[in-house]
Amino acid sequence: MRGIPPIRDAVRDDLPTVAAINTAAAPGVSLLTLNELEDLWHRATAFWVAGEANEVAAYLIGFADTAAYDGEEFGWFRAREAGFLHIDQVAVAPSARRAGLGRALYAHAARAAQERTLTWLTCGVNLRPPNPESLRFHAAIGFREVGRLETRDGLLVSLEQTLLDGGTRRPTCRRSRKR
Ligand SMILES: CC(C)(COP(=O)(O)OP(=O)(O)OC[C@H]1O[C@@H](n2cnc3c(N)ncnc32)[C@H](O)[C@@H]1OP(=O)(O)O)[C@@H](O)C(=O)NCCC(=O)NCCS
Repeated sequence: MRGIPPIRDAVRDDLPTVAAINTAAAPGVSLLTLNELEDLWHRATAFWVAGEANEVAAYLIGFADTAAYDGEEFGWFRAREAGFLHIDQVAVAPSARRAGLGRALYAHAARAAQERTLTWLTCGVNLRPPNPESLRFHAAIGFREVGRLETRDGLLVSLEQTLLDGGTRRPTCRRSRKR
């Protein structure tokens, strides 16, 4: 891949390619049907792709803490924290990995979150089934674990967050804290 392609809002025609990247990225991300992706495309705070028009090499789906969304990991953060953009899914096409696209999508997310005066980026990374690549990726870009969640469908998830530049608050999430 030559350089980092532009990061742009997804258009409806991108969704079949996003679905193919999603399928190739499972079980690191939850499998989504085209209908489910279309629903998220309508509802998400952020639905971005990396790629020129008609090309998609990676995608990111995010929800601000104030969004109407019932994701389990999103709900975990919302019960404990305010002022965040939650990365619900991020995936890079296998042939485009390790070329900086994930980092570029998160940098884009950080800028967008700061424009909304949000303080944190949050995400969940699977520990069961293990996703060591994603754990290393998130550690490399400054995330740290603030809790763990056993999900209804049997996953064990590391809940992670990072404080955006300019943020001054200390993390309030603690593993022992009750909802
Ligand atoms: C996790 C994922 C999004 C990372 O995206 P990426 O574009 O490949 O990552 P980047 O190239 O931006 O990597 C940034 C840094 O993260 C770390 N990193 C990324 N992938 C890594 C890997 N497989 N092993 C070790 N470190 C890794 C490195 O420090 C890397 O910097 P470097 O290449 O200069 O050493 C990608 O591997 C992916 O799509 N995985 C499948 C889906 C998934 O698991 N999504 C995350 C769900 S929580």
